[in-house]
Amino acid sequence: MNLEKRCFKKICFLLAVLLISLLAGCGTQKPVETGSDAESTSNTSPAESQIESETEPTNESGGAIVVYFSRTGHTKPLAEYIKEELDADIYEIEAKVPYTDDDIKYYTDCRADREQNDPTARPEIAGELPDLSEYDTVFLGYPIWHGQAPKIIYTFLESVDVSGKTVIPFCTSASSPIGSSAENLHPLAPNAVWKDGTRFAIGTSREEIKDWFSSMNNQKELKLYIGGTELPVTWLENASVEALKELAADGLTVQMSMYGGFEQVGSLGKSLPKDDKQITTDYGDIVLFSGNQIVLFYGSNSWSYTRLGQINLSKAEMTELLSNGNVTVILKCK
Ligand SMILES: Cc1cc2nc3c(=O)[nH]c(=O)nc-3n(C[C@H](O)[C@H](O)[C@H](O)COP(=O)(O)O)c2cc1C
Repeated sequence: MNLEKRCFKKICFLLAVLLISLLAGCGTQKPVETGSDAESTSNTSPAESQIESETEPTNESGGAIVVYFSRTGHTKPLAEYIKEELDADIYEIEAKVPYTDDDIKYYTDCRADREQNDPTARPEIAGELPDLSEYDTVFLGYPIWHGQAPKIIYTFLESVDVSGKTVIPFCTSASSPIGSSAENLHPLAPNAVWKDGTRFAIGTSREEIKDWFSSMNNQKELKLYIGGTELPVTWLENASVEALKELAADGLTVQMSMYGGFEQVGSLGKSLPKDDKQITTDYGDIVLFSGNQIVLFYGSNSWSYTRLGQINLSKAEMTELLSNGNVTVILKCK
């Protein structure tokens, strides 16, 4: 291998390690059982992502798994590129009743057409489901079927627990964009940390997948810590959150105060763009109050706020976190 090629491989490896450490934390991974035809696949990966943490507290556990459904084989190679590049585990979703060629002749009222038109359709999955407890990050791959994820993806999300895990959707299609297909999966796993989905053309190369990793690495993420622990937050995409990211670029410490038996509130020291609306909040909600104060809820309140995001913890966890005295929030965009 010449020097140029070795350097390139090294850069790719470092990017992969960086991606894992950003999205999935560091650690080892667990063997995964595949669907119907294979008995089991053991992909125990080396704990290569033991990089030094920076100054902030880090998420200690887990690794990444690629979960995908691919009826005609276009999504499959992308899932394998991700697996190989990140040394992740992989699980193929297969239908208990396999889709025949006639079943997927779309616009003929075929089985796939009927399932996609039926909000209650949940095709059964063959074999055992993977144990996701050891993973922090789930890459979720599927083909676009009539603008949406195939209903078997819905079956999958309703059958496993991805609470608190980062889920990164990706799909292939003949021409359609990812559209609403990924967002429509969110209600099936409301406590996951959903990242934006990405659509790839049929025949996307390994190099393009590596470019995708690089672009993800370059996206700065806003992180929220309480008591040294990073909380699983889904931030909204709005001008207030963008401004908060800028404000938190070098780290922002917010001293919070308990208020009203349902929230903690703290000053950001600066006014952000706001789009206040009369809303009723629920536990886990993060809102902007009066343009310059951040509020975290473990109960509910009706007031005029701008929504910023949501902490993906249970009511009991939020209550435990916020109802036992004033906390300090650290926001950091990195
Ligand atoms: C039932 C069905 C519906 C489809 N609907 C769309 C669609 O709405 N838009 C699109 O661009 N491609 C559509 N396609 C094409 C697939 O998205 C595309 O071939 C995809 O890459 C297949 O992935 P796979 O080989 O991993 O199963 C559809 C295919 C099937 C079988």
